[in-house]
Amino acid sequence: MTIVNAPISPKLPVLMHGADYNPDQWLHDPAVLEEDIRLMKLAGCNVMAIGIFSWAALEPAEGEFRFEWLDHVLERFCNNGIYAWLATPSGARPAWLSDSYPEVLRVAPNRVRNLYGGRHNHCFTSPAYREKVAIMNRKLAERYGAHPAVVGWHISNEYGGECHCELCQDAFRNWLKREYRTLDALNLAWWTSFWSHTYTDWQQIESPAPHGERMVHGLNLDWRRFVTEQTVAFCKHEIDAVKWANPDLPVTTNMYTLESLDYRRFAPILDVISWDAYPDWHKEQDNVKVAATFAFMHDMFRSMLRKPFLLMESTPSMTNWQAVSKLKKPGMHRLSSLQAIAHGSDSIQYFQWRKSRGSSEKLHGAVVDHAGHEHTRVFRDVAELGGTLADLSEIAGSLTPSETAILFDWENRWAVKDAKGPRNAGLHYEETVHDHYRALWQQGIPVDVIGSEDDFSPYKLIIAPMLYLCREETGRKLEALVERGGLLVVTYWSGIVDEHDRCHLGGFPGPLRKTLGIWAEEIDALQDHERNGLTLLEGNPLGLSGRYESRELCELIHLEGAEALGCYTDDFYAKRPALTRNCLGLGKAYYMATRLGDDFLLAFYRAVSAQAGVARVIDTELPAGVTAQQRTNGSSEYIFLMNFSDKSAEVPLDGQTYVDLETGEAAGAVVPLPVNGIRVFKRETSLH
Ligand code: GLA
Ligand code: ZN
Repeated sequence: MTIVNAPISPKLPVLMHGADYNPDQWLHDPAVLEEDIRLMKLAGCNVMAIGIFSWAALEPAEGEFRFEWLDHVLERFCNNGIYAWLATPSGARPAWLSDSYPEVLRVAPNRVRNLYGGRHNHCFTSPAYREKVAIMNRKLAERYGAHPAVVGWHISNEYGGECHCELCQDAFRNWLKREYRTLDALNLAWWTSFWSHTYTDWQQIESPAPHGERMVHGLNLDWRRFVTEQTVAFCKHEIDAVKWANPDLPVTTNMYTLESLDYRRFAPILDVISWDAYPDWHKEQDNVKVAATFAFMHDMFRSMLRKPFLLMESTPSMTNWQAVSKLKKPGMHRLSSLQAIAHGSDSIQYFQWRKSRGSSEKLHGAVVDHAGHEHTRVFRDVAELGGTLADLSEIAGSLTPSETAILFDWENRWAVKDAKGPRNAGLHYEETVHDHYRALWQQGIPVDVIGSEDDFSPYKLIIAPMLYLCREETGRKLEALVERGGLLVVTYWSGIVDEHDRCHLGGFPGPLRKTLGIWAEEIDALQDHERNGLTLLEGNPLGLSGRYESRELCELIHLEGAEALGCYTDDFYAKRPALTRNCLGLGKAYYMATRLGDDFLLAFYRAVSAQAGVARVIDTELPAGVTAQQRTNGSSEYIFLMNFSDKSAEVPLDGQTYVDLETGEAAGAVVPLPVNGIRVFKRETSLH
């Protein structure tokens, strides 16, 4: 079976390597542009994202277009084997545009309109902005839609933010009318009878404001949904304006780590997912937590279309915006970049190609330094990676199948953090999700990161940490997973509210109660310094033993068909169940009633993944901080072994034949990995 995906661009069916290229900053100095081409080839770069912030250079005055400079750059690319992701420039505007059309400027939550400045400072509803963007995009598409150097469209840049202008208020009210049809339905959904906040006219509804309504959770949740939909609609508007000229040219928009936009909603309108990753390496003594967090992010973006994605931005050295922007230590550029490839990226691209001379990002890392030549450590690292990516090129298009998934919903994230509840001092939702993920990552088990609305059928094991917002439908889908023989793991603080952020009646965890076979009656919050414990019961079916520390939240649950595998050690609820298992149909559902540490999670997921029959990438025990990931094209498997610990490591292989993809040499029985070391092997597909 071949499971290789069609290349992202048939023009460049290899791993892409390049950067954001901003020649419009150097138009006054043509020698720089000539030198850039020489350096790009020297760095092994085959693609550039171009024109991202070029509006002022492309349309210096309203209706006056200048494309000659871009013609020239793209022609030079063609002659030198370099390709381009051509951007639409809507991420920032020329000053004349805000001058002539003040409605394009964003209005802040306090209802004050912004002045001109910064970027992303525009209203996604404004008809004037939409029209100007469509004119620009159509012109670009007309001129470059069939250009041989152009591999696809880079739509805007890191969409984000929100606008509270009157146009947006009206659009929000219309959105609500479509969702609820009647004010009675809206009032009930938002529970506005509380504090007499019942609306009697649609015009009374306003977006959340610091000096107005902030406390109606259903309103807050719907506002976030609306902002996402409005941004997706804007993106679609941009895509329509470029696609007409050449529908075959793929489109992407570079995403970031934003909490405020439900990125999954963009997936259906994109041909390929891309994102910008800026890990804060070397923050701690080892890089294990950072590595696993970014592995999770790569997996999440890959899972959106379940095919290769693009790493559209990363820094070749340091950022200039982290609290402490550290250099990458030797080996880290290669390790960090190949980590993205391991998790399904078909490109390594940077922000930016050449350091700006002035303005706010002049000290941000770039491939070409202010020194202006190739004799720098960073340039050497980049050029070396260019060679490596060429050696690994056959990996492009291969997939990353997973039998395990973690549920991570934006709407749950919004709701769980908006709630006033048992621990306003911190529920640590994302950290908790990452903790569970890390226990699988440490074993080299591939994981998809999915949303409640995704298809659950490909998975043998699904993990839902703190699924606070759980729809009835999600409950039914998880029940079906277990019925057909799947394994489910759910934690405390799940099944609390519905899609309108109203509590489920009849007992928590609401729609999951039957599947889990428990009733969660109360939840106790612990102070930061407080601890409880979990003691495993003898003879439990996971074969776990001992006592583990627990913290933050302890749910007091009743068994309703589930069996206890472990109990609390302390407080008035000592000896009550803290870890349970329910057998339902052909499968099993586990419940952790309290927050447990890495030691427990590793032991637990070792046992649960073995029981679920999910395969590890290599059938071996990986040393702490070492992980393995895999891509496959159906006949060959590409195995990535990576060391993120602060010690050199030795990894015993599992008896299969591993050939180093860079050197062509067969691996011995044990693979040595230095600190920041990574090896990429090819293995013929086995039957497991
Ligand atoms: C973001 C932006 C880039 C640049 C980098 C700096 O990802 O998309 O334009 O500002 O950050 O890290
Ligand atoms: Zn607006």
